[in-house]
Amino acid sequence: MARVHNFCAGPAALPLPVLEKAQAELLDFNGNGMSLMEMSHRSKAFDEVINTAEANIRKLMGISDDYAVLFLQGGASHQFAMLPMNLMAGKAADYINTGAWAKKAISEAKLAGKVNVVWDGADDKYNRMPKADEYTLNSDAAYVHICSNETIGGIRFTDFPKTEAPLIADMSSEIMSRELDVNQFGMIYAGAQKNIGPSGLALVVIRKDLAERCPETAPKIMRYSTHIAENSLYNTPNTWGIYIVKLVTDWLLGLGGVSAMEKINEEKAKVLYDAIDGSDFWKPVAAKEYRSTMNVCWTTPNEELDAKFVKEATAANLSGLKGHRSVGGLRASIYNACPREAIDALVNFMKEFEAKNG
Ligand SMILES: Cc1ncc(COP(=O)(O)O)c(C=O)c1O
Repeated sequence: MARVHNFCAGPAALPLPVLEKAQAELLDFNGNGMSLMEMSHRSKAFDEVINTAEANIRKLMGISDDYAVLFLQGGASHQFAMLPMNLMAGKAADYINTGAWAKKAISEAKLAGKVNVVWDGADDKYNRMPKADEYTLNSDAAYVHICSNETIGGIRFTDFPKTEAPLIADMSSEIMSRELDVNQFGMIYAGAQKNIGPSGLALVVIRKDLAERCPETAPKIMRYSTHIAENSLYNTPNTWGIYIVKLVTDWLLGLGGVSAMEKINEEKAKVLYDAIDGSDFWKPVAAKEYRSTMNVCWTTPNEELDAKFVKEATAANLSGLKGHRSVGGLRASIYNACPREAIDALVNFMKEFEAKNG
């Protein structure tokens, strides 16, 4: 069986050792005579899985007891709606509009209450993040929302906004890819399917006091406080997803944690950006200062060559390089599990492509 180099934006590549371990344990999990997928979420065996996943995440991200770690269903989009329902509490919230995913969060929040968009990157086609002096935050905001890494635009915050109100970040496409201080955030959330597991699962890290803001009128299943009280077992969770998160975080700890991963990610991104910058044939999309180390976006000289590149790359076992349908061009998503060999193979292919078509 030949596995391709997978540059998909999400669901995305998982570490091979994780897939192999899941395969080995698929039919009989830890001598229980059944698959983990067939097992009660209230069993001792699953309890160990979810508790270890949480402990791993706390260790990797340096999360204190002031915060709850939750595994929720519905992905990151569900959090776009759940967050304002829980945290607005009658006040307006500040949102920074940095691109496609921030925009989606804004449109959901508007259904729940008043939203102030304090900065919008439209004039620069969302190719950069704002500097701190380009926006004014409202001192009485319920919270300030950012998308820390825009998966489609390929940009990321270098310095996070300094806020009085709790800072909330959608980190779906960069969670555990770089070191950061969790204490500067009120809440962090991420769909699992890019850096930590399969789709249909969101990781939520929330300061416990903020969860108390939710009005009594909110449905129980939509309240963070419900899931905190029940250790993410209020109803039947995505047990398989949580199990894979446990395996991925075991793997990440084995590599040396987030700081070791960050170094590898910086090197991988540099090799690819250097190849793009090294020739006029390629055009980078994002402003240099804000380039993502996870989602690298660029183009060839024209759309026909973009399409040709994707087609020929796919034939050469380089999968998932088409830019998002809303923006076109090329995109390589090089998350934690994307190995250096995949980047080297891509860069070699780019050289050959340019030699033939440049
Ligand atoms: C930054 C960001 N936020 C949110 C989402 C939505 O995630 P989900 O499909 O899990 O709802 C995505 C998905 O690609 C994303 O990249």
